[in-house]
Amino acid sequence: MSAPSPVTPGRDTIVLGIETSCDETAAACVRGGTDVLSSVVSSQVDLHARYGGVVPEIASRAHNELIIPVTARALVEAGVEGSRVDVVAATTGPGLIGALLVGVSAAKALALTWGVPFVAVNHLEAHLYASFLEDPELRLPMVVLLVSGGHTMLVSMEDHGRYRLLGQTLDDAAGEAFDKVARFLGLGYPGGPAIDHHALSGDPEAIPFPRSMIDDGLDFSFSGLKTAVVNHVRKHPEVSTEDVAASFQAAVVDVLVAKSRRAAAETGAVALALGGGVAANSLLRERFLDACTDDDLHGFLPSRAMCTDNAAMIASAGWYVLGREGASGLDHGASPNLRLRTTI
Ligand code: KG4
Ligand code: ZN
Repeated sequence: MSAPSPVTPGRDTIVLGIETSCDETAAACVRGGTDVLSSVVSSQVDLHARYGGVVPEIASRAHNELIIPVTARALVEAGVEGSRVDVVAATTGPGLIGALLVGVSAAKALALTWGVPFVAVNHLEAHLYASFLEDPELRLPMVVLLVSGGHTMLVSMEDHGRYRLLGQTLDDAAGEAFDKVARFLGLGYPGGPAIDHHALSGDPEAIPFPRSMIDDGLDFSFSGLKTAVVNHVRKHPEVSTEDVAASFQAAVVDVLVAKSRRAAAETGAVALALGGGVAANSLLRERFLDACTDDDLHGFLPSRAMCTDNAAMIASAGWYVLGREGASGLDHGASPNLRLRTTI
Protein backbone atom coordinates (compact mmCIF):
# COMPACT_ATOMS: atom_id res chain seq x y z
CA MET A 1 0.00 0.00 0.00
CA SER A 2 1.53 3.36 -1.01
CA ALA A 3 1.70 6.27 1.42
CA PRO A 4 -1.11 8.82 1.07
CA SER A 5 -0.17 11.91 -0.92
CA PRO A 6 0.27 15.00 1.26
CA VAL A 7 -2.77 17.27 1.33
CA THR A 8 -2.61 21.04 1.80
CA PRO A 9 -6.03 21.84 3.18
CA GLY A 10 -7.97 24.28 1.05
CA ARG A 11 -11.55 25.55 0.79
CA ASP A 12 -12.62 22.36 -1.08
CA THR A 13 -10.90 19.87 1.19
CA ILE A 14 -13.44 17.51 2.74
CA VAL A 15 -12.56 16.07 6.14
CA LEU A 16 -14.48 13.12 7.58
CA GLY A 17 -14.37 13.53 11.37
CA ILE A 18 -14.95 10.69 13.84
CA GLU A 19 -15.62 11.10 17.57
CA THR A 20 -15.92 8.24 20.09
CA SER A 21 -14.17 9.55 23.21
CA CYS A 22 -17.06 9.05 25.64
CA ASP A 23 -20.70 8.11 25.10
CA GLU A 24 -21.48 9.72 21.74
CA THR A 25 -20.69 7.92 18.49
CA ALA A 26 -20.37 10.70 15.93
CA ALA A 27 -19.24 11.24 12.35
CA ALA A 28 -19.35 14.38 10.20
CA CYS A 29 -18.16 15.75 6.88
CA VAL A 30 -16.82 19.31 6.90
CA ARG A 31 -15.53 21.18 3.84
CA GLY A 32 -12.82 23.82 4.10
CA GLY A 33 -12.68 23.70 7.92
CA THR A 34 -16.04 25.39 8.53
CA ASP A 35 -18.69 24.23 6.02
CA VAL A 36 -20.62 21.43 7.77
CA LEU A 37 -21.99 19.06 5.12
CA SER A 38 -23.30 16.55 7.66
CA SER A 39 -23.07 15.89 11.38
CA VAL A 40 -24.48 12.66 12.80
CA VAL A 41 -24.46 12.03 16.55
CA SER A 42 -25.76 8.84 18.13
CA SER A 43 -26.00 9.29 21.88
CA GLN A 44 -25.73 6.26 24.17
CA VAL A 45 -27.26 8.20 27.05
CA ASP A 46 -30.17 5.73 27.43
CA LEU A 47 -27.77 2.79 27.72
CA HIS A 48 -25.91 4.41 30.62
CA ALA A 49 -28.80 6.19 32.37
CA ARG A 50 -29.75 3.26 34.60
CA TYR A 51 -26.18 3.07 35.93
CA GLY A 52 -26.14 6.82 36.70
CA GLY A 53 -23.01 7.41 34.61
CA VAL A 54 -21.02 6.18 31.63
CA VAL A 55 -19.94 2.52 31.91
CA PRO A 56 -16.72 2.26 29.85
CA GLU A 57 -17.19 -1.33 28.65
CA ILE A 58 -20.77 -0.67 27.54
CA ALA A 59 -19.60 2.48 25.74
CA SER A 60 -16.89 0.61 23.80
CA ARG A 61 -19.29 -2.11 22.70
CA ALA A 62 -21.92 0.39 21.61
CA HIS A 63 -19.33 2.39 19.63
CA ASN A 64 -18.32 -0.85 17.92
CA GLU A 65 -21.88 -1.49 16.81
CA LEU A 66 -22.60 2.09 15.79
CA ILE A 67 -19.40 3.30 14.16
CA ILE A 68 -20.11 1.89 10.68
CA PRO A 69 -23.79 2.95 10.39
CA VAL A 70 -23.08 6.40 11.84
CA THR A 71 -20.14 6.98 9.48
CA ALA A 72 -22.12 5.68 6.49
CA ARG A 73 -24.96 8.05 7.34
CA ALA A 74 -22.61 11.02 7.61
CA LEU A 75 -21.30 10.26 4.12
CA VAL A 76 -24.80 9.79 2.66
CA GLU A 77 -26.20 12.96 4.28
CA ALA A 78 -23.23 14.94 2.97
CA GLY A 79 -23.80 13.49 -0.51
CA VAL A 80 -20.15 12.48 -0.47
CA GLU A 81 -18.81 9.22 -1.84
CA GLY A 82 -16.04 7.70 0.28
CA SER A 83 -13.66 8.26 -2.62
CA ARG A 84 -14.32 12.03 -2.43
CA VAL A 85 -13.13 12.31 1.21
CA ASP A 86 -9.70 14.00 1.29
CA VAL A 87 -8.78 13.46 4.95
CA VAL A 88 -9.99 11.33 7.87
CA ALA A 89 -9.66 12.87 11.36
CA ALA A 90 -10.47 11.20 14.68
CA THR A 91 -10.33 12.07 18.37
CA THR A 92 -7.28 10.33 19.85
CA GLY A 93 -7.79 11.66 23.42
CA PRO A 94 -8.58 12.51 26.09
CA GLY A 95 -11.34 9.99 26.81
CA LEU A 96 -12.09 6.38 27.64
CA ILE A 97 -9.40 4.18 26.14
CA GLY A 98 -11.69 1.44 24.79
CA ALA A 99 -14.09 4.01 23.34
CA LEU A 100 -11.30 6.05 21.74
CA LEU A 101 -9.76 2.98 20.13
CA VAL A 102 -12.94 2.18 18.22
CA GLY A 103 -12.97 5.57 16.49
CA VAL A 104 -9.22 5.74 15.97
CA SER A 105 -9.11 2.23 14.43
CA ALA A 106 -12.06 2.95 12.15
CA ALA A 107 -10.55 6.26 11.01
CA LYS A 108 -7.16 4.73 10.28
CA ALA A 109 -8.76 1.82 8.38
CA LEU A 110 -10.76 4.26 6.21
CA ALA A 111 -7.73 6.49 5.60
CA LEU A 112 -5.70 3.46 4.57
CA THR A 113 -8.46 2.12 2.30
CA TRP A 114 -9.03 5.45 0.57
CA GLY A 115 -5.30 6.32 0.46
CA VAL A 116 -5.83 9.66 2.24
CA PRO A 117 -4.13 11.23 5.28
CA PHE A 118 -5.19 10.44 8.83
CA VAL A 119 -5.15 13.28 11.36
CA ALA A 120 -5.15 12.78 15.14
CA VAL A 121 -7.29 15.37 16.93
CA ASN A 122 -7.24 16.42 20.59
CA HIS A 123 -10.85 16.48 21.83
CA LEU A 124 -10.23 19.61 23.92
CA GLU A 125 -8.77 21.51 20.97
CA ALA A 126 -11.80 20.44 18.93
CA HIS A 127 -14.15 21.98 21.52
CA LEU A 128 -12.26 25.27 20.99
CA TYR A 129 -12.88 24.98 17.24
CA ALA A 130 -16.62 24.44 17.69
CA SER A 131 -16.94 28.23 17.95
CA PHE A 132 -15.28 28.83 14.57
CA LEU A 133 -17.65 26.42 12.89
CA GLU A 134 -20.56 28.72 13.59
CA ASP A 135 -18.75 32.05 13.64
CA PRO A 136 -15.75 31.94 11.27
CA GLU A 137 -15.37 35.71 11.79
CA LEU A 138 -14.36 35.26 15.44
CA ARG A 139 -11.21 37.27 16.09
CA LEU A 140 -8.26 36.40 18.30
CA PRO A 141 -7.05 36.58 21.00
CA MET A 142 -10.07 34.97 22.53
CA VAL A 143 -10.73 33.30 25.86
CA VAL A 144 -12.73 30.08 25.81
CA LEU A 145 -14.46 28.68 28.88
CA LEU A 146 -14.50 24.95 28.28
CA VAL A 147 -16.93 23.26 30.65
CA SER A 148 -17.86 19.63 30.21
CA GLY A 149 -18.38 16.44 32.19
CA GLY A 150 -14.64 15.83 32.32
CA HIS A 151 -13.12 19.32 32.11
CA THR A 152 -13.42 22.85 33.36
CA MET A 153 -10.78 25.15 31.94
CA LEU A 154 -10.17 28.69 30.82
CA VAL A 155 -8.00 28.78 27.73
CA SER A 156 -6.55 31.77 25.96
CA MET A 157 -6.51 31.11 22.21
CA GLU A 158 -3.84 33.51 21.01
CA ASP A 159 -3.70 32.08 17.50
CA HIS A 160 -4.60 28.81 15.77
CA GLY A 161 -2.59 26.17 17.62
CA ARG A 162 -1.35 28.64 20.27
CA TYR A 163 -3.14 28.11 23.54
CA ARG A 164 -2.47 29.19 27.09
CA LEU A 165 -4.11 27.40 30.00
CA LEU A 166 -5.26 30.17 32.34
CA GLY A 167 -7.07 28.10 34.91
CA GLN A 168 -8.68 24.73 35.52
CA THR A 169 -10.59 22.82 38.14
CA LEU A 170 -8.65 21.53 41.10
CA ASP A 171 -11.21 18.78 41.78
CA ASP A 172 -14.58 18.09 40.08
CA ALA A 173 -15.41 19.36 36.60
CA ALA A 174 -18.47 21.62 36.43
CA GLY A 175 -20.48 18.99 34.51
CA GLU A 176 -19.45 16.36 37.02
CA ALA A 177 -20.78 18.59 39.84
CA PHE A 178 -24.10 18.96 37.96
CA ASP A 179 -24.25 15.17 37.45
CA LYS A 180 -23.39 14.32 41.08
CA VAL A 181 -25.82 16.85 42.58
CA ALA A 182 -28.60 15.70 40.23
CA ARG A 183 -27.95 12.11 41.22
CA PHE A 184 -28.12 13.02 44.90
CA LEU A 185 -31.40 14.88 44.30
CA GLY A 186 -32.78 11.86 42.40
CA LEU A 187 -33.08 13.80 39.14
CA GLY A 188 -31.50 11.14 36.94
CA TYR A 189 -28.72 11.18 34.39
CA PRO A 190 -27.34 13.22 32.71
CA GLY A 191 -27.70 15.71 35.54
CA GLY A 192 -27.00 19.00 33.78
CA PRO A 193 -30.18 19.19 31.69
CA ALA A 194 -32.27 17.94 34.66
CA ILE A 195 -30.92 20.64 37.02
CA ASP A 196 -31.32 23.26 34.29
CA HIS A 197 -34.96 22.24 33.91
CA HIS A 198 -35.81 22.08 37.64
CA ALA A 199 -34.01 25.37 38.30
CA LEU A 200 -36.48 27.16 36.02
CA SER A 201 -39.17 26.91 38.70
CA GLY A 202 -36.87 27.43 41.72
CA ASP A 203 -35.49 30.47 43.55
CA PRO A 204 -31.77 30.98 42.85
CA GLU A 205 -31.42 33.02 46.05
CA ALA A 206 -33.19 30.54 48.32
CA ILE A 207 -29.96 28.99 49.63
CA PRO A 208 -26.66 30.91 49.75
CA PHE A 209 -24.35 28.12 48.54
CA PRO A 210 -20.60 28.93 48.54
CA ARG A 211 -18.97 30.54 45.48
CA SER A 212 -15.68 28.67 45.95
CA MET A 213 -12.52 30.60 45.05
CA ILE A 214 -14.53 33.30 43.27
CA ASP A 215 -11.99 36.05 44.05
CA ASP A 216 -8.99 33.77 44.05
CA GLY A 217 -7.15 33.35 40.73
CA LEU A 218 -8.51 31.56 37.67
CA ASP A 219 -8.64 27.97 38.97
CA PHE A 220 -11.93 26.40 40.03
CA SER A 221 -13.14 24.08 42.79
CA PHE A 222 -16.60 22.51 42.86
CA SER A 223 -16.33 19.65 45.32
CA GLY A 224 -17.03 21.90 48.36
CA LEU A 225 -20.19 23.16 46.68
CA LYS A 226 -21.37 19.61 46.06
CA THR A 227 -20.78 18.77 49.76
CA ALA A 228 -22.63 21.95 50.79
CA VAL A 229 -25.66 20.83 48.77
CA VAL A 230 -25.62 17.36 50.36
CA ASN A 231 -25.27 18.80 53.88
CA HIS A 232 -28.05 21.34 53.34
CA VAL A 233 -30.52 18.77 52.02
CA ARG A 234 -29.72 16.33 54.84
CA LYS A 235 -30.30 19.09 57.39
CA HIS A 236 -33.45 20.42 55.69
CA PRO A 237 -35.16 17.38 54.12
CA GLU A 238 -38.29 19.44 53.44
CA VAL A 239 -36.41 21.85 51.14
CA SER A 240 -37.79 22.27 47.62
CA THR A 241 -35.73 20.41 45.00
CA GLU A 242 -36.35 23.27 42.58
CA ASP A 243 -34.83 25.79 45.02
CA VAL A 244 -31.80 23.57 45.61
CA ALA A 245 -31.32 23.12 41.84
CA ALA A 246 -31.68 26.87 41.18
CA SER A 247 -29.40 27.89 44.06
CA PHE A 248 -26.73 25.32 43.14
CA GLN A 249 -26.84 26.34 39.47
CA ALA A 250 -26.57 30.04 40.39
CA ALA A 251 -23.48 29.33 42.52
CA VAL A 252 -21.75 27.45 39.67
CA VAL A 253 -22.66 30.06 37.07
CA ASP A 254 -21.56 33.00 39.26
CA VAL A 255 -18.08 31.50 39.55
CA LEU A 256 -17.81 30.51 35.88
CA VAL A 257 -18.87 33.94 34.65
CA ALA A 258 -16.76 35.94 37.15
CA LYS A 259 -13.59 34.04 36.24
CA SER A 260 -14.24 34.19 32.49
CA ARG A 261 -14.59 37.98 32.64
CA ARG A 262 -11.42 38.29 34.67
CA ALA A 263 -9.54 35.99 32.28
CA ALA A 264 -10.62 38.10 29.30
CA ALA A 265 -9.59 41.32 31.04
CA GLU A 266 -6.21 39.95 32.16
CA THR A 267 -5.30 38.64 28.68
CA GLY A 268 -6.66 41.55 26.62
CA ALA A 269 -9.00 39.18 24.76
CA VAL A 270 -11.36 40.67 22.17
CA ALA A 271 -13.77 37.71 22.31
CA LEU A 272 -15.13 35.31 24.89
CA ALA A 273 -16.60 31.96 23.86
CA LEU A 274 -18.18 28.99 25.59
CA GLY A 275 -17.57 25.33 24.81
CA GLY A 276 -18.35 21.86 26.19
CA GLY A 277 -21.59 20.25 27.33
CA VAL A 278 -22.26 22.60 30.26
CA ALA A 279 -22.30 25.47 27.74
CA ALA A 280 -25.84 24.26 26.97
CA ASN A 281 -26.94 25.55 30.40
CA SER A 282 -29.59 28.26 30.02
CA LEU A 283 -28.51 30.45 32.94
CA LEU A 284 -24.84 30.24 31.96
CA ARG A 285 -25.67 31.25 28.38
CA GLU A 286 -27.75 34.22 29.50
CA ARG A 287 -25.27 35.48 32.10
CA PHE A 288 -22.29 34.91 29.80
CA LEU A 289 -23.77 37.09 27.04
CA ASP A 290 -24.77 39.80 29.53
CA ALA A 291 -21.18 39.88 30.80
CA CYS A 292 -19.83 40.19 27.26
CA THR A 293 -22.15 43.10 26.55
CA ASP A 294 -21.12 44.83 29.80
CA ASP A 295 -17.41 44.31 29.09
CA ASP A 296 -17.61 45.20 25.38
CA LEU A 297 -16.40 41.77 24.28
CA HIS A 298 -17.51 39.79 21.25
CA GLY A 299 -19.42 37.01 22.99
CA PHE A 300 -20.00 33.73 21.27
CA LEU A 301 -22.24 30.85 22.29
CA PRO A 302 -22.16 27.76 20.10
CA SER A 303 -25.54 26.18 19.39
CA ARG A 304 -26.50 23.48 21.88
CA ALA A 305 -25.67 20.78 19.32
CA MET A 306 -22.20 22.21 18.90
CA CYS A 307 -21.61 22.48 22.69
CA THR A 308 -21.96 18.77 23.31
CA ASP A 309 -19.70 16.14 21.77
CA ASN A 310 -19.97 15.94 17.99
CA ALA A 311 -17.72 15.08 15.06
CA ALA A 312 -18.09 18.33 13.09
CA MET A 313 -15.76 19.97 15.58
CA ILE A 314 -13.31 17.08 15.14
CA ALA A 315 -13.35 17.46 11.35
CA SER A 316 -12.94 21.23 11.67
CA ALA A 317 -10.00 20.97 14.09
CA GLY A 318 -8.54 18.24 11.85
CA TRP A 319 -8.51 20.66 8.90
CA TYR A 320 -6.55 23.25 10.89
CA VAL A 321 -4.19 20.67 12.45
CA LEU A 322 -3.40 19.20 9.02
CA GLY A 323 -2.50 22.67 7.71
CA ARG A 324 -0.26 23.36 10.69
CA GLU A 325 1.34 20.03 11.47
CA GLY A 326 0.65 17.71 8.54
CA ALA A 327 -0.80 14.21 8.72
CA SER A 328 -0.39 11.83 11.66
CA GLY A 329 1.21 8.41 11.27
CA LEU A 330 -0.98 5.33 11.12
CA ASP A 331 0.92 4.12 14.19
CA HIS A 332 -0.61 7.00 16.20
CA GLY A 333 -2.44 5.51 19.19
CA ALA A 334 -5.14 6.72 21.55
CA SER A 335 -4.20 8.64 24.73
CA PRO A 336 -6.83 8.66 27.50
CA ASN A 337 -5.08 11.44 29.45
CA LEU A 338 -4.08 13.64 26.51
CA ARG A 339 -3.68 17.30 27.51
CA LEU A 340 -4.16 20.43 25.49
CA ARG A 341 -0.77 21.41 24.10
CA THR A 342 -0.16 24.86 25.55
CA THR A 343 2.55 27.41 24.80
CA ILE A 344 3.19 28.44 28.39
O1 KG4 B 1 -18.97 17.93 26.44
P1 KG4 B 1 -19.91 16.85 26.89
O2 KG4 B 1 -21.04 16.47 25.97
O3 KG4 B 1 -19.15 15.52 27.23
C1 KG4 B 1 -17.90 15.53 27.86
O4 KG4 B 1 -17.93 15.52 29.12
O5 KG4 B 1 -16.88 15.59 27.14
O6 KG4 B 1 -20.50 17.31 28.32
C2 KG4 B 1 -21.40 16.52 29.08
C3 KG4 B 1 -21.68 17.26 30.38
C4 KG4 B 1 -22.47 16.42 31.40
O7 KG4 B 1 -21.86 16.54 32.66
C5 KG4 B 1 -23.86 17.09 31.40
O8 KG4 B 1 -24.54 16.97 32.64
C6 KG4 B 1 -23.49 18.53 31.10
O9 KG4 B 1 -22.46 18.44 30.13
N1 KG4 B 1 -24.64 19.29 30.57
C7 KG4 B 1 -25.19 20.34 31.21
C8 KG4 B 1 -26.31 20.74 30.42
N2 KG4 B 1 -26.37 19.92 29.33
C9 KG4 B 1 -25.33 19.04 29.42
N3 KG4 B 1 -24.86 20.94 32.36
C10 KG4 B 1 -25.64 21.98 32.76
N4 KG4 B 1 -26.73 22.40 32.07
C11 KG4 B 1 -27.10 21.82 30.92
N5 KG4 B 1 -28.17 22.25 30.25
ZN1 ZN C 1 -16.47 16.96 25.15
